[in-house]
Amino acid sequence: MVRYILVGDNQASKIYVNYKEKACKKVGIKTINHNLPENTEFSTLAELIEKLNRDSQVDGILLQLPLPSHLDEDKLLEMIDPDKDVDGFHPLNVGKLILGKETFVSATPLGIMNLLKAHDIKFKGKEAVVVGRSNIVGKPIAALLTAHDATVTICHSKTIELEKQIARAQILIVAVGKRGVVKPQWIPSGCVVVDVGTHRLDSGKVVGDLDFEEVSRKAAWITPVPGGIGPMTIASLLQNTVKAALNH
Ligand code: GUN
Repeated sequence: MVRYILVGDNQASKIYVNYKEKACKKVGIKTINHNLPENTEFSTLAELIEKLNRDSQVDGILLQLPLPSHLDEDKLLEMIDPDKDVDGFHPLNVGKLILGKETFVSATPLGIMNLLKAHDIKFKGKEAVVVGRSNIVGKPIAALLTAHDATVTICHSKTIELEKQIARAQILIVAVGKRGVVKPQWIPSGCVVVDVGTHRLDSGKVVGDLDFEEVSRKAAWITPVPGGIGPMTIASLLQNTVKAALNH
């Protein structure tokens, strides 16, 4: 059984939790949601997390981010029992990932690796360029690619001459959270391209950080948005939840 904690009215978070819940239902994983109001106090959340940590019926705990600004995300994530941390956000689990030890890997980077492996993409000695250095995607995917023997470059908002860095990519992970930062003409031909972004245009159309049509002319592989890394993330979260249950 997994418990989802959602605080406040963030619409995107509500949609994500809804997806996760539905996916659990489909495969027979029990879920209980804790939907808490925007003005929830730190102590209330801390008590809930501690209660769930102690409950032997609970295999996994997921605190949906972002939290309202008055709540200290880092402190709360640290309170989650690392053995129930299906998100892989606890510092102990992040540390284990860096050390190359068995741990919970956060769902998006795990989903990316699962997808690339399923398509028999080779990592050894490859030039991998990661654009974005978030704790949720950029940093952990860079660690995983390094552990799989790729040569990894991490780029971010302060990177000078991003185009030059991207020119060497054989594997390119774009997790910027902004559309159009990486230009289609920069993509080296034959590159394996993973687009982690999700944006809803005014027209209602959902798109990634990249221009899919343009980039697909040059890339050997490219993940679509929607239907690419999003569903892989959900599947990988389920994988982590099953792993947590088997560990208990
Ligand atoms: N907010 C955006 N992505 C995630 C995620 O993977 N897990 C959690 N808990 N919150 C998120």
